[in-house]
Amino acid sequence: MSGGGNFSGFPGQSGSGAPEMPPLVRPPAAPTSPGDESRVSEPVAFDRSAREAVEEPTLGRGPVEAEAPPARETVEAQEAVRDALFETGPEVVIGPTGRPMPHIPEPGPVDTPGHTSGHKPGGANGGARVIAMCNQKGGVGKTTTTINLGASLAEYGRKVLLVDFDPQGSLSVGLGLNPHEMDYTIYNLLMERDVEFDDVVVPSGIEGMDLLPSNIDLSAAEVQLVHEVAREQSLQRILAPALSQYDVILIDCQPSLGLLTVNALTASDGVIVPLECEYFALRGVALLKTTIDKVKERLNPKLEIDGVLGTMFDGRTLHSREVMERLVQAWGDKVFHTVIRRTVKFSDSTVAGEPITSYASSSAGAASYRQLAKEVLARVSTGESARG
Ligand SMILES: Nc1ncnc2c1ncn2[C@@H]1O[C@H](COP(=O)(O)OP(=O)(O)OP(=O)(O)O)[C@@H](O)[C@H]1O
Ligand SMILES: [Mg+2]
Repeated sequence: MSGGGNFSGFPGQSGSGAPEMPPLVRPPAAPTSPGDESRVSEPVAFDRSAREAVEEPTLGRGPVEAEAPPARETVEAQEAVRDALFETGPEVVIGPTGRPMPHIPEPGPVDTPGHTSGHKPGGANGGARVIAMCNQKGGVGKTTTTINLGASLAEYGRKVLLVDFDPQGSLSVGLGLNPHEMDYTIYNLLMERDVEFDDVVVPSGIEGMDLLPSNIDLSAAEVQLVHEVAREQSLQRILAPALSQYDVILIDCQPSLGLLTVNALTASDGVIVPLECEYFALRGVALLKTTIDKVKERLNPKLEIDGVLGTMFDGRTLHSREVMERLVQAWGDKVFHTVIRRTVKFSDSTVAGEPITSYASSSAGAASYRQLAKEVLARVSTGESARG
């Protein structure tokens, strides 16, 4: 593993230390016929309106109409084809992170209680692997990744538990629950001794995937837990009965590094850090890394960073590609080869209260999360994350 140690910002952001950007892939220029050439160099035929059209194409003036952008469906279909190429292409393909895209194997069957053959998913205790989705920056795709990675893992036959550990309750709402109509939430499980795991867990609407829901009540727990014995281990305690029932448990954290997030990190085997592909993505990441290191040192020695996920990526902009390069410089091989592209289908599927894998099953977004699920399973089953 390399590159996990430099989290202090954008290495080589400016000045001579900046490494070369990977060459941009630009479409070849349209071939110019000899006839065209002679017309351009013909001084008598020069015409001012034609010159404006050539020199100021972005202003949209002049007689030459700007080429219409391709329809969104066409772009998404092309992206889906590109994603498929990443999986099967025999030759080396440079992926969206600027690195050669490896072949990501199809996940095998699982061998945990409830399953009978194949490999274990990599939980340190031999049961479920617990993964926290963590970044104190808001709106980076933590909840979207929890829902859609979970649904994709369930499609691959894993028994998945999603834990809504954010008082905003976005994960619960994103799966169609009404925050005001919950009998019990994770708050009751945390704070009331007579409430048990089975009283609170609900089906998610996706086969093989359950949910521990949350609502604004959880914000009180952050205050009340301060006075508890072993306050950082509260979530670990309530998840203990679930470890033998599930293959993967995904915890959706709130955008803060407070006690709830420390609880999530203490209960987890791994962390996935979603990072939006925009210029300030790495701001605050040093603090996140310090928090993860402190929890590992003082509370949870098995904790590892399973991966850093670039979200809301737009491969058509130089900006997105530059940010992705900075992520790889800072986090090295921790950066997943899979990136999640920006598409409105994610917001649409949230409104519909279901994962994109069922709302728009053949979309590029769904394909990306399925690929992420394969990459996560490949990493945790080979122990790659543990070596970082
Ligand atoms: N790849 C994407 N393309 C476009 N929109 C996206 C993408 N991923 C997430 N979104 C949208 O961005 C918004 C924020 O996403 P999300 O709620 O997953 O972030 P979050 O990190 O969980 O936020 P918070 O920190 O508030 O919990 C949502 O409206 C979601 O639909
Ligand atoms: Mg969220």
